[in-house]
Amino acid sequence: MSQSVDSAGDDLLFYVNGKKVVEKNAEPEMALLTYLRTKLGLTGTKLGCAEGGCGACTVMVSRFSSHQDRIIHFAVNACLAPLCSLHHSAVTTVEGIGSVASKLHPVQERIARAHGSQCGFCTPGIVMSMYALLRNNPQPSLLDIEEAFQGNLCRCTGYRPILEGYKTFAKDGGCCGGKRKENGCCMGAEGQANHSEGDFLLYNPSEFMPLDPTQEIIFPIELLGLSKKPLKQLCFQGERVLWIQPSSLTELLDFKTQYPEARLVVGNTEVGIEMKFKNLLYPVILAPAFIPELNTVQRTADGILFGAACTLTRLGMVLRDAVQELPTYQTEVFRAVLEQLRWFAGQQVRNVAAIGGNIVTASPISDLNPVFLAAGCKLTLASKGGKRVIEMDDSFFPGYRKTVLKPDEILLFIEIPFTKKGQYFSAFKQSQRREDDIATVTCAMNVAFEENTNSVRNLRLSYGGMAPTTVLAKETCKRLTGRKWSDELLQDACSLLAKEMTLDPSAPGGMVTYRRTLTISLFFKFYLIVQHKLAQDLNVEGFVLEDVRPDYASAAELFHSVFPCSTQLFQEVPPGQNKDDVVGRPIMHLSALKQATGEAVYCDDIPCYDNELHLALVTSTKAHAFIENIDTKEAMCVPGVVAFLTAKDIPGSNRTGPAVYDETVLAEDMVTCVGHIIAAIVADTQAHAQRAAKAVKITYKELKPVVTIQEAISCKSFYQPTRKIEQGNIEEGFKKADHILEGEMHIGGQEHFYLETNCTLAVPRGEDGEMEMFVSTQSTSKTQMLVAKALGVPANRIVCRVKRMGGGFGGKECRSTILSTVVAVAAQKLKKPVRCMLDRDEDMLVTGGRHPFLGRYKVGFMKTGRIVSLEVTYYSNAGNSADLSLSILERALFHMENCYNIPHIRGMGYMCKTNLPSNTAFRGFGGPQGMMVAESWMGDVALHCGLPVEQVRRLNMYKQGDRTPFTQRLEQFTIDRCWEECLSISQYNQRRKAIEQFNRQHRWKKRGIAVIPTKFGISFTALFLNQAGALVHVYIDGSVLLTHGGTEMGQGLHTKMVQVASKVLGIPCSKIHISETSTSTVPNTSPTAASASSDLNGMAIYDACQTLNQRLQPYKTKNPKGTWEDWVKAAYFDRVNLSANGFYKTPDMGYDFETNEGKPFNYFSYGVACSEVEVDCLTGDHKNLHTSIVMDVGNSLNPAIDIGQVEGAFMQGVGLFTLEELLYSPEGVLLTRGPGMYKIPAFGDIPTELNVSLLRDAPNEKAIFSSKAVGEPPLFLAASVFYAIKDAITAARAESGLRGPFRLDSPATPERIRNACEDSFTKLCPPAEAGTYKPWAVQV
Ligand SMILES: Cc1cc2nc3c(=O)[nH]c(=O)nc-3n(C[C@H](O)[C@H](O)[C@H](O)COP(=O)(O)OP(=O)(O)OC[C@H]3O[C@@H](n4cnc5c(N)ncnc54)[C@H](O)[C@@H]3O)c2cc1C
Ligand code: FES
Ligand code: FES
Repeated sequence: MSQSVDSAGDDLLFYVNGKKVVEKNAEPEMALLTYLRTKLGLTGTKLGCAEGGCGACTVMVSRFSSHQDRIIHFAVNACLAPLCSLHHSAVTTVEGIGSVASKLHPVQERIARAHGSQCGFCTPGIVMSMYALLRNNPQPSLLDIEEAFQGNLCRCTGYRPILEGYKTFAKDGGCCGGKRKENGCCMGAEGQANHSEGDFLLYNPSEFMPLDPTQEIIFPIELLGLSKKPLKQLCFQGERVLWIQPSSLTELLDFKTQYPEARLVVGNTEVGIEMKFKNLLYPVILAPAFIPELNTVQRTADGILFGAACTLTRLGMVLRDAVQELPTYQTEVFRAVLEQLRWFAGQQVRNVAAIGGNIVTASPISDLNPVFLAAGCKLTLASKGGKRVIEMDDSFFPGYRKTVLKPDEILLFIEIPFTKKGQYFSAFKQSQRREDDIATVTCAMNVAFEENTNSVRNLRLSYGGMAPTTVLAKETCKRLTGRKWSDELLQDACSLLAKEMTLDPSAPGGMVTYRRTLTISLFFKFYLIVQHKLAQDLNVEGFVLEDVRPDYASAAELFHSVFPCSTQLFQEVPPGQNKDDVVGRPIMHLSALKQATGEAVYCDDIPCYDNELHLALVTSTKAHAFIENIDTKEAMCVPGVVAFLTAKDIPGSNRTGPAVYDETVLAEDMVTCVGHIIAAIVADTQAHAQRAAKAVKITYKELKPVVTIQEAISCKSFYQPTRKIEQGNIEEGFKKADHILEGEMHIGGQEHFYLETNCTLAVPRGEDGEMEMFVSTQSTSKTQMLVAKALGVPANRIVCRVKRMGGGFGGKECRSTILSTVVAVAAQKLKKPVRCMLDRDEDMLVTGGRHPFLGRYKVGFMKTGRIVSLEVTYYSNAGNSADLSLSILERALFHMENCYNIPHIRGMGYMCKTNLPSNTAFRGFGGPQGMMVAESWMGDVALHCGLPVEQVRRLNMYKQGDRTPFTQRLEQFTIDRCWEECLSISQYNQRRKAIEQFNRQHRWKKRGIAVIPTKFGISFTALFLNQAGALVHVYIDGSVLLTHGGTEMGQGLHTKMVQVASKVLGIPCSKIHISETSTSTVPNTSPTAASASSDLNGMAIYDACQTLNQRLQPYKTKNPKGTWEDWVKAAYFDRVNLSANGFYKTPDMGYDFETNEGKPFNYFSYGVACSEVEVDCLTGDHKNLHTSIVMDVGNSLNPAIDIGQVEGAFMQGVGLFTLEELLYSPEGVLLTRGPGMYKIPAFGDIPTELNVSLLRDAPNEKAIFSSKAVGEPPLFLAASVFYAIKDAITAARAESGLRGPFRLDSPATPERIRNACEDSFTKLCPPAEAGTYKPWAVQV
C-alpha cells in the first residue's frame, strides 16, 4: 500500500525569539536564514557563504529530544537548516538575546568591549556560537570555547580579542588558565595580559556584566507539550519539492518504496550543498530525524549501535562516555572516531549532521568512512521487504558517491565495534587547515596481533582522498599479515603502499606527490604509535620489545591545541590629558555594540521596498571565447522572472574601469575570463533570479586562453607600461661581489573574503534620471561616476550612500563598481528598486583578488653577507583588465628592497595580461609581494654564507637619513628601535638556542624562527588621490553631524574621526554622530584605501572644525563659563553659519618614474615581527608557537583600534603566506570558490603566544595628531611565519644532507612544506615529469 500525503500541506509551527510563528506555506527549498531575513525581517543573522563554512548565520535551535528526554540547545547554520526541519523547535537569533535599545546580553557586551568586533559582519554568528555554548554550559572550559568557534570565521580581528573577551566566561579563564606563569600570563606575577606596562587596559573586564543563566528565554511551554505527543506525519509542498516527515519507520520505508529517488535529509549538510551549488534538484525529500529507531543508541555485546540519524555531536558524547567507562583496550576505535570528529567541520555542522548522511553520501574524503571501513563496522539496512546486516568493507562503495544500498533501502543502524587486547587502531586526517576543512588524505589503520606477540594477525588500512571511493590497501595488508612489527615491516610497508596507493598525475584535487607521500608518512606515524604501545603492553607480559627512539617519539604525537595567550603594550595618554579628550585612548569601535546585537545595518539589511526586484548575474564559463549564442527560453519560464539584460540595455556607455575604461559592464561579443559578466536576470525573488540565471544557455567559440604568468611571459602578453627603478650601477656591483646567486619565488594571489559579499541596492527616484545607490563600496565617488557614465546621466543625478561595509580590504575599492552599474542599469530600465547581493561563490569567481607575483632575482654579495648589487624583475598576474595593476606593480617596486640599503639596484616590473578575472587592490597593494621576494634573496644570501640570517638582515639595514632607490630620504627612521624591542620581547636569543636544542632532539618535528622588518610607504602613489573633504554641521541643540570622504569597513575610521572632531571642537564624542558616507555631502572622494584615510580625512575634519571653532570663538570669549550648547545657540541666534566644510591635500608630494625624482610617500610606517613555528615534517602541518610584533604607529589615535589593525592585518598575512591558495584549472576556471575549498585563517591558527607592542615615544609630524597609518603596513609582518617555516624546513633538510638555498613559494601550505622536507618517504613518490600530463590545477 502506498502512503498518501495531504496535498494541501501542513502548517509549520515553531518559535522565534519567544514568539510563535505559524507558516502555512513552508517552502522546502527555503533555508531558515532566508526566512528570518526576508519573512521575519530579522536581519541580525548574516549570510556569509550559504554553505556552512563561515558561521555568520549561526542561530540557536532548541527542542525537546524525546530520545534524550531533555531539552537540547544547539548552534546551527541557518543557511543550511531547512525551514521545514524546524517544526516544534524554538529558534533564538542574535536579536532575541539582547539589544542596545533594551538590555545587552553579556556575550554581546563582552565581544564589543573586548574590541572583538571590527566590521561586525561575523559578530552575530560568533555571539550566537558563544551563547549556545553558555546555554549548555554556563561555565565552559577554554577548550569548550575553542571548540565552539571551529565553525566561525572572522576576516578582520585576527580572533585574539574575541577569545580574550570570551575567556572571561571560562572556569579556567585567565589568559592561559595560569598554565604558563613563567611566560607572561596575567595570572602570574611577571607579565600582563591585555594591558600595558603601566597597567593600562584596552578594556576592563571587571566592568563586564555578569552572566545570569536564570535570565535566558525559556523553552516555550506549548512546544514542550506538543513535542511529547506522538509523532504525526507532516508534509510541505513547495514550488518544486515535496517535503515529507514520516511519523514512523514503517511509514518512512513505505515512502522510500514509493519514492525510491527520494533523499533522506537529516542535517542537510550534503543535500543542501548539492541543491545550492551543484544545481541538483530532489523533488521528494524524506525527513527521518525524529524517528525513534533512527536515533537509537545501544550497547551490544560487540560494540555500540547507533541509529543512522544520530548527529555527530551525539555520537561524540556517547563515545566520550564509553571511553571514560570502558577499559582502554576496548575503545581504540572509539578514540579514533573522536579524533576524527575533533577536526570534522564546525560545531554547527556536527550538531545537525548525521552519521548516516556521512556514510551514505559516500564521499571519497569522508572522515568517518575510513574509520568504519578499517574497523569493519556492521551496517543494518532496512527496506519494506525487511532488514539485512552487512560488514562495511570497500565493496560497500561500488563507485564515486555510490553505495550498495538499493533504491528502496535506508541505512538504519551502524554498530561500531569494541577492540580487543592486542589490537591497535588509529585515524589520521590531513587537511590544508586544521579546523573545519575537508581532508586532503584521511585514513584509519587497524592492526591485531597474535596473542602476546608482535606478529601481525590482521591488518586493515583504509584511505580516503586516494581514489574515487574510500579504499582499503588490501595488497599491502595481505603481504604484511603474519610479519613481525619491525623496521623491516616498515620498509616493506612503505614500498608496498607507494605501489598500491598510486594516483594519476592529473587526478582531481591535485597535490598528487603530497597525497602519495602522506599515505606512507601517516603509516609511519601509525607504526611508531603501535611500536610504542606494543613495547608497553608486551613488556608487561614479559617480552622485551624496543620502544620508539626518543628523537622519533614526537612524530607519533597527535596535534594538541593550546589556548592562546597574549600581551598588548601601548603608550597611555600623558597624565595631564583632559578626560574628555579621547584622542590616544582605547575607546571601543562606535558601532561595536550594535554589531554585536545585530542592530547594525549593512547594505542587504535595508528593508525591502514593496516593488523591489532582485538581480542575478549570468557569467562566462569560458576564459577566452566569442559568444556565439545566448538561449534564454528556459530561463524566462522560471516563475517571477521579469527581465533579461544585456549590453544592449545600457543607455549610456558600456565601457568602464577604475583607471582606464578597458572593461565592459556587460560583455558584448567576447569574454576574456571565466566569471566575465555577460548578462543579468531580474526577478521577483533572489531564488528565482538565481535559478533563471543558471538556466541561461550560452554557446561559445573558444580561443586559447593565457592563464599563468609563465604563459604570459612566453607570449609576451603584458599591459603597458613596464616600470623600472634603478640606482647605482648593478653591473659594477656584480663585479665587486664575492658571490652571485640567482633565484625565483612565486607568491600566490589571495581572495579578499570580506565576510559581507558585494551588495548593491539601486532605487530610481523617478525624476530627472535620479538614482539613489546603497552600496557596499570603498569608493562612493567612483561608483557614482561609473554608474552615471553607464546610465548616460550627469553625476549630479546619482547619489551613492554607504553606511558601513562588512569588510573591504581593497576588494571593494573598484571591483564593486561593475555590479553596482549592472544593478543601476536594471533599476533604471525597470523603474523599480533592484537589489543584488552576490553569493560567496559568485563573489569569488567574479571580483578578482590580490595579484599573484613571480619574482626573479640576481643578487651579488660579499662573504660577510653585505649585499652590493641586486637585479629583480617582478611579473604580476593582472588578469583581463588593467584595473589598478599599474599602481600595484609600482608599489611592489617601491618596496623591492624592504628595509635594506642596496648600493646598486635595479627593479623591473611587468603586468601580465591574462584570461583571469581582473586582479585588484588588496591590503598592502603590491608592497607585501615586493618585500616577500626581498626576504627570499636575503635568506638565500645568509644560507649561502652560512651566517645567521638575522645578522645579515641587520648588516644590510637602512640607517636614518639613507635614501631609498627612489631617492626618498628616510626620516624619523624607527626600524632600529622596533628591531631591538622585538628581539627583546620575543627573547630571540634564548629562543634560537632552545630551537637548536629541540631540533637536535627531534627528527620529525622541527622548529624555526625568523625576525622580519617592514617599511611601508604611506600615500596614494597617484598624486591626485591624496586629498580629502569633510562636512561638519552643528545643530541648534549642540549635536554635531560629521561627514567625511572615508567609508567605514570595520577599520574604525569613523571612530577615529569622531575622536579627532571631539578633540578639535572640545566636546565629548557622544555629541558627535556619523551617519554614513554619501556623495551628496562630500563630493569627489578618494577611495578609502592606501591606509591613508585617517591621515587625509582626519586633516579635513580638523580643517572644518577649526573653521567652526573660529566662528564660535566670539561666543566663547563672551561667555567663558558657558557650555557648548550655550555658544552654539548664541551663534545661531546671531546668524552664524554652523556648517563648515574642510579640505586637505598632502603637501610636497609627487614622483616621476622617468627621472626617478620626487617623493612618492608622505612618510613610512615601520614594524618588526619575530615568529617561531613548529613543523611536522611528515605531514607538512605547522603550528605558530609565538609571534612578537613591534609596530610604529606614531602617537596612536586609538590603541585598541590600532592593535586590532595590527593583529587583523597580521592574521590576513598569515593566510596569504601560509594557508590561502587559489587554485585554477589549466583552462582558467577558479576551482576554490567558497570557504569549503578556500581556507582563510580560523580561530585555531592564531599564534599560541602573541605579543603586540606599539612603539612608544615615536610621534609622526606628518599626520593628524602625530599618528601614523596602520591598515596595511603590519600585513607583511606575517612573512615572519613563512620564513620561520622555511627555517624549520632548512633544519629538516639538513637531516637528509641537503644544505644551501632552496626555493619555497608562497603560501607555505602543508603540501609545499612536506614536499620540501625531502626524506626517504618522499623519494618513494617522485613527481611525474612536467609536461607529460595535464595537471588538475596550475600556479597562476
Ligand atoms: C561546512 C561543512 C563541513 C563539512 N566537513 C566535513 C568533514 O570535515 N568531514 C566529512 O567527512 N564531511 C564533512 N562535511 C560533509 C557532511 O557534513 C557530512 O557528510 C554529514 O555527515 C552529512 O550528514 P547530513 O545529515 O547533514 O546529511 P544530509 O545532507 O541530510 O544527507 C546526505 C545524504 O545521505 C543520505 N542519507 C542520510 N541518511 C540516510 C539513511 N539513514 N539512509 C539512507 N540514506 C541516507 C541522504 O539521502 C543524502 O543523500 C561537511 C559539510 C559541510 C557543509
Ligand atoms: S552563511 Fe551560513 S555558514 Fe556561512
Ligand atoms: S569583524 Fe569579523 S569579519 Fe569583520
